[in-house]
Amino acid sequence: MDKIVIKGGRPLFGEVRISGAKNAALPLIAATLLTPGLHTLHNVPDLRDTRTILLLLGTMGVKWERDGSTVRIDSTDLSEFEASYELVKTMRASVLVLGPLLARLGRARVSLPGGCAIGARPINLHLDGLKRLGVTVELEKGYVDAIVDGPMHGNTIVFDKQSVTATENILMAAVVADGTTVIKNVAREPEIGNLIDMLTIMGARIKGRDTSQLEIEGVNELRPAEISIIPDRIEAGTYALAVCAAGGDATIVDCIPEHLSSLIDKLQTVGVTVEESGNSIRVIRKGPIYAVDVSTATYPGFPTDLQAQMMALMALSNGASVIDETIFENRFMHVAELRRMGADITIKGRTATVKGMRDLSGAQVMATDLRASASLVVAGVAAKGITEISRVYHLDRGYEDLEGKLSGLGAVIRREKEG
Ligand code: EPZ
Repeated sequence: MDKIVIKGGRPLFGEVRISGAKNAALPLIAATLLTPGLHTLHNVPDLRDTRTILLLLGTMGVKWERDGSTVRIDSTDLSEFEASYELVKTMRASVLVLGPLLARLGRARVSLPGGCAIGARPINLHLDGLKRLGVTVELEKGYVDAIVDGPMHGNTIVFDKQSVTATENILMAAVVADGTTVIKNVAREPEIGNLIDMLTIMGARIKGRDTSQLEIEGVNELRPAEISIIPDRIEAGTYALAVCAAGGDATIVDCIPEHLSSLIDKLQTVGVTVEESGNSIRVIRKGPIYAVDVSTATYPGFPTDLQAQMMALMALSNGASVIDETIFENRFMHVAELRRMGADITIKGRTATVKGMRDLSGAQVMATDLRASASLVVAGVAAKGITEISRVYHLDRGYEDLEGKLSGLGAVIRREKEG
């Protein structure tokens, strides 16, 4: 296993380019199962998670090749409807093949993803939605066994909570159902808009993009798509927070500022200067870091995927900050590690109170999940001394060339083999 070693305490300057969004690439790759033919996806980040889903599709008979950031996928020879435990256990987003497999083959057998470090992560909303479309769902030996006799039928589905991948799964199932499907209380994350754009290019008829209700008129046939993955707003937000923590003046390029509006609003309250342009944001932090309270929410609220990184910044503030994690029940795994770096954080249920310190100090810390490890990187570039982050395979799931990008901003960072 690898570790990352950071010598912190130096301000960051320069430019960092953002890759395609992991959480858009995964559903859009899954959507290529919907129809035979050659799909072309541009700006696909090369990450552990995108490699995992491409491997998974390969086990089903799908052919794909990567050419730089373009991935060409041909699911003409799709022959397998089972997603094995071996692959699904490494990435719960594999559940995204459920909807497209049922739409294409009428059958899907997917290992239950199980929980992960940040919570139980049930998929009841996915399964209940599929049942509303006429799918028979059985759970046996840790697998979801789903089958539909003939095409699915349109229906009205009301989610009792907003779920990103449940919205995506039901959307992909409904595009070729008989009749019209109305889905209420859908999530509105930009990655869902990217999927809707791809499905529309494929010939799907979808109304309500970016609203809380989608109306899908089922069609008989779809065609392959060519589309670009949108920039990764969470990667962009992570680097913006790293610049704020370390101090400096840097520009985050190839991002969509509108997708970061809740973070930008918080940073301006913290005392950071943020200059937005068409496809970039410039972040300047020279003075003190003011404390601000944060409550995570579904889009366009403050993203839960930036909560841990924001906490690292608040650990350096000149006051006290209250951070509420409203989406997941156990997304404070980074707290114990930040405390090892000198952070003063107390937790009560889903609320963390962070009392800012002038400095954090480098330490040996351990990554526990993707965004918790990103939080340790944000703390590490600011901390005085050396921070060693072990188990960085968590980071590799969602950050392309993290060391290269941070080095490009002047950070002293390297990857080493763990002893
Ligand atoms: C997506 O996960 C993202 N992953 C997550 O990013 C992100 O944190 C999350 O949305 C919230 O924004 C991908 O898009 C691949 P949810 P998802 O379903 O869809 C509950 C990262 O770091 N729920 O929106 O799995 C669930 O327990 C990852 O990049 C049910 O109860 O999240 C949670 O409390 C982490 N039943 C809430 O809904 C269900 O059937 C929101 O979860 C589904 C979800």
